[in-house]
Amino acid sequence: MVTLTKSAAQVPQMPLRVGKAAAKTAKAAPTWSLRITRSLGAENAVDLLVRQHRQIRLGFLKAALPGPWRSRNFHRLMRLLAVHEAAEEAHVHPVARRALQHGREVAARRRHEEKAAKDLLISLWRTGPDGPGYLRRLNEARRVITQHAAREEREEFTALRRAVSVPRLRMLGAEVKLTQAYAPTRPHRWVNNEATNKLAAPVLGPVDRALDAVRRRRS
Ligand SMILES: [Fe+2]
Ligand SMILES: [Fe+2]
Repeated sequence: MVTLTKSAAQVPQMPLRVGKAAAKTAKAAPTWSLRITRSLGAENAVDLLVRQHRQIRLGFLKAALPGPWRSRNFHRLMRLLAVHEAAEEAHVHPVARRALQHGREVAARRRHEEKAAKDLLISLWRTGPDGPGYLRRLNEARRVITQHAAREEREEFTALRRAVSVPRLRMLGAEVKLTQAYAPTRPHRWVNNEATNKLAAPVLGPVDRALDAVRRRRS
């Protein structure tokens, strides 16, 4: 009787225990994509790109400062701009094109702005931090690129946060980071969309990085 009573007392607890455990497991077990992106330490792509926009705005100010560190600040800025735009062109705008309601128009406007900015950056790169008209070209590029970044945040990133799941945005963040690790580090006119960025990364990326290493050794 005693045994029966104990068992009977335990019966109603079992489903409760299982229910709690299941709830805990469901909370603790993310989807496979979330597990992969967490293992890569991936940040949400939008958070990552917005943070880089802040670094770019600061980078323009630093690159304008006179002194022996101007060249180093200039090259850091050019590198950040090149890898930032490469990842947006290769991964973020294509996702926006597919996921957003007016994605094709939004992505096309961003690509048009990026092409115009790239022309300015190529002319700034050719001028260099010691060339004539450097500050004027730097300021022109700053104006165009900060306006472009503000439009991305307002029209594209806000909509992406609403339309795309957090695991997908984290996965996109991993793709952005991976692309930025291999992308070219200076502006190239014909590298301006998903296909050309993906083709250029394994070829121009190592060449640019080798040239960067030579320049750093010389300086
Ligand atoms: Fe962009
Ligand atoms: Fe951007």
